[in-house]
Amino acid sequence: MRNFSICAALLSISLCGLLNADEQLSMSDSDKAMYAEMVENNPAAMDIADGEETFNRLIGEEAYAKMLGVKAKDLPKYIAGFPRFVKPAGKVVTLAQTLQMAMADRGQNVPKLESKEIVTMSAYVKSLANDQKTNIDVKANKQMKEMMALGQAVFEERRGGRGLSCNSCHSPDIVGSRLRMQPLPDLGAKETAAAGTWPAYRMTQSAMVTLDKRMQQCMKNALLAEIPLGSKEMVALEVYVTNKTKGNAIQIPGLKR
Ligand code: HEC
Repeated sequence: MRNFSICAALLSISLCGLLNADEQLSMSDSDKAMYAEMVENNPAAMDIADGEETFNRLIGEEAYAKMLGVKAKDLPKYIAGFPRFVKPAGKVVTLAQTLQMAMADRGQNVPKLESKEIVTMSAYVKSLANDQKTNIDVKANKQMKEMMALGQAVFEERRGGRGLSCNSCHSPDIVGSRLRMQPLPDLGAKETAAAGTWPAYRMTQSAMVTLDKRMQQCMKNALLAEIPLGSKEMVALEVYVTNKTKGNAIQIPGLKR
């Protein structure tokens, strides 16, 4: 009943009890020391190395660039613009989905978005764009405009038993305040740089986590039905959240609480 007593002791607001134990407290001093250590030596570097090996074995940079219709040397800048409209897909897709496409293209079995192969490869491929600025263009074409509008609608839609939306905790007028002891992050702030820093190693989970999975964790904590990975709504949400961090540098893998 520890969660309960923390809530009671803090005479918490109605949101109390929504967050899992791992979301409950901001960092302790020992966590901060561990964080400093891990910034130097991010454990997800191993996942990136795995992803590089898998990518080179299953797809390769030349074939990948060719499928996307760009020159290999232009990949970093192009990668910094996902999610984006991709011609061979005929729709707006995430970086991870282009890896599924590349595998299908090569006649391989296509692993699921949450598979180790796709997760580690997408982290590696995104790391090729490290230090590039996120350059998503939500006005590039009608497909992007449509996905941006859908993403905003999903972000602002109040759902679930408590009638919460993403915006309930991440709107500009509430970010920086605290949900009990947990600061509510501004997803667009330079220090959060949400989209440019996922996949990230989550210390509370001892694992590398992707942006869509992280958003599903928020849904779970807030008792919202989880939007499936790869669905139009999830891609749209990624478009909307990524646009908030436009202009911030990409730094993969990130390191998060
Ligand atoms: C009940 C409040 C609440 C709701 C509702 C909520 N979040 Fe969050 N979200 C949080 C908190 C608190 C954190 C930071 C936790 C931490 O520091 O680990 C967070 C973190 C995040 C992050 C990671 C930020 C970073 O560090 O890079 C993303 C992305 C995110 N939320 C997206 C969403 C989306 C999308 C929705 C709607 C589906 C949503 N959140 C709904 C409270 C909420």
